[in-house]
Amino acid sequence: MLDSKIDSVLKRIEEQEKFEQENPYKIPNSEKVLAIGRNTGIFYNILLKSMDAKKILEIGMSLGYSTIWFAEAISKKTGGKIITIDQDKKKIELAKRNFEDAGLSDFIDIRHGDALEVLLDIKNESNSSESFDFVFIDADKERYIQYFDVLFPMVKPGGLIGADNILFPERFQKFASLYVKHVRNNPKIRSVTLPIDNGEELSLKLT
Ligand SMILES: C[S@@+](CC[C@H](N)C(=O)[O-])C[C@H]1O[C@@H](n2cnc3c(N)ncnc32)[C@H](O)[C@@H]1O
Repeated sequence: MLDSKIDSVLKRIEEQEKFEQENPYKIPNSEKVLAIGRNTGIFYNILLKSMDAKKILEIGMSLGYSTIWFAEAISKKTGGKIITIDQDKKKIELAKRNFEDAGLSDFIDIRHGDALEVLLDIKNESNSSESFDFVFIDADKERYIQYFDVLFPMVKPGGLIGADNILFPERFQKFASLYVKHVRNNPKIRSVTLPIDNGEELSLKLT
């Protein structure tokens, strides 16, 4: 069972997203939750627990829905940490409140800024090489390939890279298929598309 504080924050965000979907013109796109689906959250949570993940990097946090599913998987373990990136200050404020209400703030390091620049900063930090067990890509779809190329050396051999919106919405399909082709051309990657919610590309770094 999920901790009651975590469960209530997840449900609060889900309700907010449902309202947005039912009233698409009431909230500007820049303020929308745009979170992964609940099944996707559960899927990654199970995966992270089973692989005993300790270090996670997320590109595209929004209000922190996915981050909470990741943090719940590592929060009871010592040394677990999530770095999550977003460029939107308002969303960061809302996400901080969600993490506090869920009791997960201690595990989450929010980095504000353009994802590519922040990624390059993280890459320059000591201990970044082959250090992440799991990286999740869910920001601007047209830059997934650039993100992948920068983050790939930071993933541990045996680590995983997940990417959202591989199947839906349709307007992202061009970028998604280029991304899928790109990762599958890498001889150090084994990769599959999972038809959960908006579609996940799950890629294992082999060596
Ligand atoms: C789809 S939402 C992320 C949803 C989140 N992963 C979840 O499932 O709860 C995408 C987020 O990426 C952020 N974003 C888009 N382009 C970005 C960029 N170039 N640098 C940093 N953040 C970016 C947006 O502000 C937005 O909050």
